[in-house]
Amino acid sequence: MDNLHYMPRTLLSTCLLLTPLAALADSPAWNNAVNTPPSDWQGPTFELSDEYPTEMPPACTTATCPWLAIKLPDQVKSVDFNDTGVPNWSTEPVYNEYITSILNYIKQGQTMDLNNAEGLKINVDGQTRWYHIPWMAYAQKTGREFVHGLTNERTAHLSDFYGVGAPSSDTGRGFETWAVGMYNDIGAYTVGQSFNSDGKPVLETINGITSTKGMPFNEGTVVVKFLFSTVTPSDVDYLQNSPKWQANRHVETKSGFEQCSRKVQDVHLVQVDVAVVDSRSPSRWVYGTFAYINNNGKSVWDNLQPVGLQWGMDPWTFPAVPKDESITARQSVLNTSIRHYEHFGCEGRLAGPVDNKLSSCLSCHAGAYANPDDSNPQMGVTIPPIFGFDGLCEQYSQENVNYFQTTQFPQAYSGGNYPELLNLDTSLQMQIAVQEQAKYAANSPRECEE
Ligand code: HEC
Repeated sequence: MDNLHYMPRTLLSTCLLLTPLAALADSPAWNNAVNTPPSDWQGPTFELSDEYPTEMPPACTTATCPWLAIKLPDQVKSVDFNDTGVPNWSTEPVYNEYITSILNYIKQGQTMDLNNAEGLKINVDGQTRWYHIPWMAYAQKTGREFVHGLTNERTAHLSDFYGVGAPSSDTGRGFETWAVGMYNDIGAYTVGQSFNSDGKPVLETINGITSTKGMPFNEGTVVVKFLFSTVTPSDVDYLQNSPKWQANRHVETKSGFEQCSRKVQDVHLVQVDVAVVDSRSPSRWVYGTFAYINNNGKSVWDNLQPVGLQWGMDPWTFPAVPKDESITARQSVLNTSIRHYEHFGCEGRLAGPVDNKLSSCLSCHAGAYANPDDSNPQMGVTIPPIFGFDGLCEQYSQENVNYFQTTQFPQAYSGGNYPELLNLDTSLQMQIAVQEQAKYAANSPRECEE
C-alpha cells in the first residue's frame, strides 16, 4: 500500500505542506487487511489495488464489452428490458451469451485453475484491469483478511447448497462466506473520484442530488465478486475440484465462529457474482451469478455454471403487490436447467447459492445509500434495510413494496424514508466504505478492541 500515488498530482504539493506525511500514511482507508501477516508468512499476500484511473479509460467497444452489443429476442424488444414478456433461459440463448461474454472478460489474464498461490490478477495485458474499494479492512470482525483480501459475509447452511435435497446428515452447522470484489477500470474511475487521499468521501451536488463525486458508474463498468465458503467438497459433492484458497478467517470452534480471532484456514470457491452497467436496463444495471458446480471441465471457468440474470426488481410480482394481483416475474431470467437445488431468490427473482433466498440481488443492492455523518448506521432506521426485516418476501407490506421497486440512480430509496442519503448506485461496498469512514472520523470505539 502506498498512499501518495493516489493523490491527484495537483493536490500533492499543497497537501504535503499542510499535512504531515505520517498522517496520510495512517489513514486506514488504504489498509490491505485487518491484520498484517506474521513475519514468517510465506504465502500469498493481498495488496489493495487503489491506483484508480484519474481520467476516463477508453470507452467500451463491441470487442471489449460484447454484452452491450447483444440483442435480446423479439419479445424483449431488442434488449429493451422494460418489455413485459416473460424471459426464458432455455429457449432464448442470448441470456447465456450475455452472461458468458461477461465471464470471458473476467477470465482474461487469470489462471485456468484460479490457484491459491496466484490468486486473482489485477493486471491484464500489462495494464491494471481491476481495483478494490477502500475502507473494507477497517471493520475488525468482517474486514479484509491478509491472504486474498476476503471479507466475511452471510453464513450459509447445507440447506442453501442442497435446497430440498439436503443430506440427512445435516447438523445445521453454519458455513461462513468470505468474498472479494473488484471493479474494472471504468468502474474504478468513479471510485477514485469518490474519495480523497485521506479516505474521506468527496461529495458533489448535481441538479440538487448529492452523491460521491463521479457517480453514477459509467456504462462499461464491470464488477465481479468471488465468493468462497468454509464448506468443503466432502460436505457438498458438486464442489469437487473447486479452487481451495487460504484465508485468515475466523477461528471455528464447536459452538461457532469467534468473530475476533483469526487463523489461516481453507475456503472453497462456491459462487461468482457479476454486475455491469447497461443503460438499456430499467435499473441501469444487470446483475448475474454463476454457481461452481463440478462438470469435469478443463478449467475452473468451465465449472462455473450460470444461474441467471436480473435487471429489475419485479414490482408487479408478490410481495410488491398482493398475491391475487401478482404476475410472473420477468425482470430476472433463471437457468432452471442446472443442477440447482431450488435456491433462486424471492418469487422467481434472482439470488445466488449463498445468498438469502428471500431476497434478490438487485433488491438488496438497491439499498446502497449512505450518510457520511452517521457513525452508527442502523439498517431500517438510518439506512435502508437490505435484509432481515420481518416478513421479507412473505407478505404484502410497505417494506416489501419498497424493497421490490425497480429504481435507478439518482432516485432516492423507494418509500421516501431516507431522502437525505447519498445514492451509491447499487454499490454496497461503497456503502461500507462511506460508513466505515464515518465511524473512523467520529473516533467510534473499534470492534474487538477492549
Ligand atoms: C441480502 C443482500 C444481498 C444480496 C441478496 C446480494 N448481495 Fe451482492 N453484496 C451484498 C453486500 C452487503 C455487499 C458488499 C460486501 C462485500 O462485497 O463484501 C455485496 C457486494 C456485491 C458485489 C461487489 C460490488 C458491490 O456492489 O458492492 C457484487 C458485484 C455483488 N454483490 C453482486 C451480487 C449478485 C450478482 C447477487 C445476486 C446473485 C447479489 N450480489 C446478491 C449484499 C447482497
